[in-house]
Amino acid sequence: MARTSAGPHSKWWRSPATRALAGVATVAATAAVLVTAPGADAAASTLGAAAAQSGRYFGTAIAASKLGNSAYTTIAAREFNMVTPENEMKPDATEPNQNQFNFSSGDQIYNWAVGHGAKVRGHTLAWHAQQPGWMQNMGGSSLRNAMINHIQKVMAHYQGKLAYWDVVNEAFNEDGSRRSSNLQSTGNDWIEVAFKTARAADPSTKLCYNDYNIDNWNYGKTQGVYNMVRDFKSRGVPIDCVGLQAHFTGGSSVPSNLQTTISSFAALGVDVALTEVDVTNSSTSQYAALTQACMNVARCVGITVWGVRDSDSWRSNESPLLFDGNGNKKAAYNSVLNVLNSGGGTTTTPTTTPTDPTTTPTTPTTPGGGSCTASLSAGQSWSDRYNLNVSVSGASSWTVTMTVPSPARISATWNINATWPSSQVLVATPNGNGNNWGVTIQHNGNWNWPSVSCSSS
Ligand code: XIL
Repeated sequence: MARTSAGPHSKWWRSPATRALAGVATVAATAAVLVTAPGADAAASTLGAAAAQSGRYFGTAIAASKLGNSAYTTIAAREFNMVTPENEMKPDATEPNQNQFNFSSGDQIYNWAVGHGAKVRGHTLAWHAQQPGWMQNMGGSSLRNAMINHIQKVMAHYQGKLAYWDVVNEAFNEDGSRRSSNLQSTGNDWIEVAFKTARAADPSTKLCYNDYNIDNWNYGKTQGVYNMVRDFKSRGVPIDCVGLQAHFTGGSSVPSNLQTTISSFAALGVDVALTEVDVTNSSTSQYAALTQACMNVARCVGITVWGVRDSDSWRSNESPLLFDGNGNKKAAYNSVLNVLNSGGGTTTTPTTTPTDPTTTPTTPTTPGGGSCTASLSAGQSWSDRYNLNVSVSGASSWTVTMTVPSPARISATWNINATWPSSQVLVATPNGNGNNWGVTIQHNGNWNWPSVSCSSS
């Protein structure tokens, strides 16, 4: 399916300008050797070119220490059009002493990437891990201020240069609650402060939240991150993208509902990317499935694998990448390339009607039986429960019926008169305090929002 590689200089996909120039060259070559029918839509022969056909990118993590290795850089330059510094833009690398910044390794990767036609994804500004020693011992307002200063200074250095920044990395526990860390101990609002600081520091770059084990839609951590992004969007906290690290190594594998997860995040109005992909023993079916899941969602903007060759991987004992230690393409490489080339190579609209009932978590507005409407919006959430705010419009005398999905239970209400026909059904009427009220829902593992109907009387 893929045409024969035209060699390391065939980077027609890099930019419209170089593509146009290369197009002229291709026409000339075609005229001379008569190999390609004019207008034929040949399959692309590299990952970056294949992804670019649908407006996506295909990236890799790059280590500055390997940029002198030509076997490594030859593959990286040929195949990838997005680069994430594997360690060089993390806080311990960029601010080794407080307020003394070092961008030498980060710049080395940035310069190499743009010199080879790739864009760069910054990784990462605020994280519990890979903090410099001075930061690890900090807390309270001094840490909060140090985080803000770090974001401001690092983003100022790369102002206008990076396509994406992972502003916050790995801030959630597996059950969907917040991970405890020195950053978390500065106050639950540390994540939104980080994003607001980042937006002000460089409005030109897309701001992402990045995490692992948020690939399975029916997983507490996925729902915890989803609820945070939904909350940020509803309150105007700046966030542009969510990165699913997608480390299908160390015992995890691609979930069958990955596309639902991607499309659900996308439906919140953010870009989604698979940011650190690796798969135990490079299962061809899992690599194909994760690529297809991204291809099927319009706002899945790209895929990045976490290293070039197996020998470059942080989990090299699992041989999880697309090139072997000798730089040969593995079977998984071809399965990814084929999906990029043929798997609906055009962007598609997000899935609008997931068939699994557990995949429809939002009921933003439900028209009622009479002339009134009950609208739900996210309130605070905890590991075991979450609040919903309800706003009724269209009538001052109303009855709202709310049904929570099993095994969730409503555990508290405010600002209504409530009756309980059954343990999962609440009937609410006004208590004389207006039309805004709320509930606390014990999710018991099911984070899907309740259905509501409103009738006026
Ligand atoms: C890893 C790097 O690959 C290693 O070289 C380093 O020793 C530890 O960090 N999640 C992330 C990445 O967001 O930054 C991590 O990278 C892998 C897990």
